[in-house]
Amino acid sequence: MIKIEKLVLDKINSTYYSGKKKLAVLKDVTLYVQPGEFVSVLGPSGSGKSTILKTAAGLLRPDSGKVLIDGEEVTGLPQLVGYMPQQDLLFPWKTMWQNAALPLLAAGVSKNEAFDRVSEMLPLFGLKGFADYYPYQLSGGMRQRAALLRTMLIDSNLMLLDEPFGALDALTREQMQDWLLGIWEKFRRSVLFVTHSIDEAIYLSDRVYVITERPGKNAIEQTIKIDRPREKSILTTRDFTIYKQILINALAN
Ligand SMILES: Nc1ncnc2c1ncn2[C@@H]1O[C@H](COP(=O)(O)OP(=O)(O)OP(=O)(O)O)[C@@H](O)[C@H]1O
Ligand SMILES: [Mg+2]
Repeated sequence: MIKIEKLVLDKINSTYYSGKKKLAVLKDVTLYVQPGEFVSVLGPSGSGKSTILKTAAGLLRPDSGKVLIDGEEVTGLPQLVGYMPQQDLLFPWKTMWQNAALPLLAAGVSKNEAFDRVSEMLPLFGLKGFADYYPYQLSGGMRQRAALLRTMLIDSNLMLLDEPFGALDALTREQMQDWLLGIWEKFRRSVLFVTHSIDEAIYLSDRVYVITERPGKNAIEQTIKIDRPREKSILTTRDFTIYKQILINALAN
């Protein structure tokens, strides 16, 4: 049987133009995500990580290179994938459940059914009892979980998550990592996860790509062979420390 990758980015080159200024952002970036795999992209600020996700989602057309989803070329074509941008982008004038239900409503699901389907998921996302709250009435972690719930409700088994926990305090962030792993183990979506936290990348991932400073290029690709399910005690193990050193070195070069 031929193995088909869920997502492939093949030699992506990308440039932004603002007026006459030209900014090379990605240089021959190549990566793949296998079905059910959790892959992280780690790189310094401004290295092009968000650009990688936008390119994967088909929201940006690269200068050259190809994007394949399920083996089909989709370069520059917006895809129905679970893309969660760097800001959570909940609409402030919609309640939490209305925000979460957007992909269902857009797909033609009735309001009643959408409400039921969102409600069903609320306990799993730590949002039970908050359906009618507006985003400003939720904590930062709750807003991120609501945005993740909305991303999960998109009918696609590929998720592109752009620093979903970047704005959270350390403790909440750690809780959210465990929670996300639980969700991922339950649903086994293919995930491409952007972060600039080394610990977060190791803790969550099957594989980690390190991207260099702009223009972003592949630095290294590191498989993380730590058994799952994982818990925070692995953070102090020898294996974890070795991976951490490898990634620190790659980021420093
Ligand atoms: N729409 C745009 N027009 C012009 N330049 C852009 C645009 N979007 C991003 N850039 C530039 O491209 C570079 C890469 O941006 P990108 O958002 O992909 O980086 P990043 O790795 O996600 O950074 P961060 O970790 O801070 O989120 C930056 O120098 C940024 O200024
Ligand atoms: Mg970014």
